[in-house]
Amino acid sequence: PDSTKGKLLAVYEKAQLFYHHILMNTKAGEAALNYLIDRGITEESIETFKIGFSPPQREALKMYLENENLDDVDILKKSGLFSDREDDKFYDRFTNRILFPITDAKGQTVAFSGRIFLENGDQQRRTAKYMNSPETEIFNKRRILFNYDKARPIIRREGEVFLFEGFMDVISAWQAGIRNGLATMGTSLTEEQVHTLDKVTDHIVIAYDGDSAGLQAIKRATEFISEETHFSIEIAAFPEKMDPDDFIQKKGPEAFKDFLAHGRDTLMSFLMNYHKKEVNLDNESDQLKYIDKVLSELTRVTSAVEREMYLNQLSERFDLSIESLKEQLHGHIISSQ
Ligand code: UTP
Ligand code: MN
Ligand code: MN
Ligand code: MN
Ligand code: MN
Repeated sequence: PDSTKGKLLAVYEKAQLFYHHILMNTKAGEAALNYLIDRGITEESIETFKIGFSPPQREALKMYLENENLDDVDILKKSGLFSDREDDKFYDRFTNRILFPITDAKGQTVAFSGRIFLENGDQQRRTAKYMNSPETEIFNKRRILFNYDKARPIIRREGEVFLFEGFMDVISAWQAGIRNGLATMGTSLTEEQVHTLDKVTDHIVIAYDGDSAGLQAIKRATEFISEETHFSIEIAAFPEKMDPDDFIQKKGPEAFKDFLAHGRDTLMSFLMNYHKKEVNLDNESDQLKYIDKVLSELTRVTSAVEREMYLNQLSERFDLSIESLKEQLHGHIISSQ
């Protein structure tokens, strides 16, 4: 506790309690609380995830911490909770934002991500939707997965993990009863995060947003996971323009759970759909490109039965013989060795 890390953890613990108190018990937090309730977040979830609100005043946290005798200027600066000014004064980094504590594997708060919520307000136009704590001695963005501490025992029990993009996806899924969900927080999956997952499961279900950014991120994640690791992957591909949270709000928790249980694609069928979107299959030259692309992806599939299944699909779809498809596939296998 006397170490820099220990002191930083103590500051974050106090800050989390302060921001949560403002959200739950003060007039200043009312609009933020209403925003969360309107989005379907329950008070129980707000408690579980220790969500908070940073008031608009630029020295609210600073004054609170000083009153608590946490006034070591060096530690406050290192915490990333304040931004420096030229006049050597420093101000709260987070103002007027809903704060999601980001916790480490032990459940200790090591960072915040703050969401703006005044729709169409000034803030909306000027700044990013979510703002995060900077990297510190206790917060390494590449290593952290949101909700890992709470989800870990459930991932172990279920034998699989759901990877979401964002905070609201994890929290809404949690409320729907899916508690083995984590978020990569909008960035692409890192080696360090995969290493963390490796300790608890060998089965990843990617459940990113159903927009083009989400599709790209799924494609990158699948390449990364299948080339670097032994994980088995499935993909829950959400309908266009919907993220998991939107899906739950629109269709309800039961439909969501049903989709996660029965609506999954294999890696190969995801890739077949993905590449379809890049071409116009009414055009013969595009058909050839598409078939060749799918065959090159198929080299990654090691199960003979699975290969046969997709070769059959291609054969039927394009009225080609299995033999010619196999021949071209073997060409890819030889050139990839
Ligand atoms: P999204 O843009 O999909 O946001 O980013 P969201 O999770 O659906 O958020 P809501 O529903 O509008 O509240 C996915 C994740 O990427 C990170 C956040 O972790 C977010 O949850 N992100 C997004 C940022 O860090 N900064 C941003 O400005 C936007
Ligand atoms: Mn398994
Ligand atoms: Mn998104
Ligand atoms: Mn989203
Ligand atoms: Mn969303």
